[in-house]
Amino acid sequence: MKSFLNVQDLGDLKLALAEAQEIKKERYKYVELGRNKTALLVFFNNSLRTRLSTQKAALNLGMNVIVLDVNAGAWKLETERGVIMDGDKSEHLLEAIPVMACYCDMIGIRSFAGLTDREYDYAETVYNQFVKYSGKPVFAMETATVHPLQAFADLITIEENAPSLTGRAGGESLPKVVLTWAPHPKSLPQAVPNSFAEWMNAADVDFVITHPEGYELDPKFVGNARVEYDQKKAFEGADFIYAKNWSCPGVTRPQDYGKILHDYHTMTHWTVDAEHMSWTNNAKFMHCLPVRRNMIVTDDVIEAPTSLVIPEAANREISATVVLKRILQSL
Ligand code: CP
Repeated sequence: MKSFLNVQDLGDLKLALAEAQEIKKERYKYVELGRNKTALLVFFNNSLRTRLSTQKAALNLGMNVIVLDVNAGAWKLETERGVIMDGDKSEHLLEAIPVMACYCDMIGIRSFAGLTDREYDYAETVYNQFVKYSGKPVFAMETATVHPLQAFADLITIEENAPSLTGRAGGESLPKVVLTWAPHPKSLPQAVPNSFAEWMNAADVDFVITHPEGYELDPKFVGNARVEYDQKKAFEGADFIYAKNWSCPGVTRPQDYGKILHDYHTMTHWTVDAEHMSWTNNAKFMHCLPVRRNMIVTDDVIEAPTSLVIPEAANREISATVVLKRILQSL
């Protein structure tokens, strides 16, 4: 695997899920695979889970790890070509990438959307520059439009909590998974909901997306999902509620790309609370974290036994181990 950005990059999803369970049972099984190999993890943005789980995954595979925080100690990097570099950015990504590639065997990238130029973000400009100029396998640790390591961990978590997801006898109903928008005071990227939608479309689930009008996700990620603007109707019969805020994807009104369309104080009826969960089929609550409590979800819902936020985070180590293993096997 030379690039990990989308669900198709993993090939057969059932095989990948089986591999995740194999690694979960024996997570050092492939510790010899990464001997004398180095993973470079490049962070343009903050992280807790991705930073720790990806390092742990590399260690599970016997690799060395180098972490670079671009905005803390490295030269500030210009990412756009053609810019006259008379500002605070001392180095261009086009030199920095091949230099970074000299010191490693694979590169993980965290580079969030700028949320001002939809075309630039949705072309995955920064990620694709790493693919083009490094000559090394590259994997997304949340890029402008996707967060596949998170979505893979979410799918592992859903499978573990819905035993009927794989090996289901014919005629059994699919688990109902609902992705719901929830309010937030800041403008957030669409990477997590995009990937979650993409991966749920590829899985054996009944998938519904609910959000206020104007927050329509890009059709390439919505796929065959049902979109329901009435949050209560969407929640009815749900087995899993996946909450996340996202800013306007600019699908219907490109000029609104990256904006918050309503003052969040007026949108608190979208916050997932106990009443919302009572509309469901005793659903499990999910969120990728970090989460703003009593904004996205109330204390009682996230602390309930039905909350899966910690198992999801734990499964980040497993999803990353599978992905890094596949990359090592392709070197
Ligand atoms: N869910 C997730 O990617 O967390 P971090 O931003 O802390 O890495």
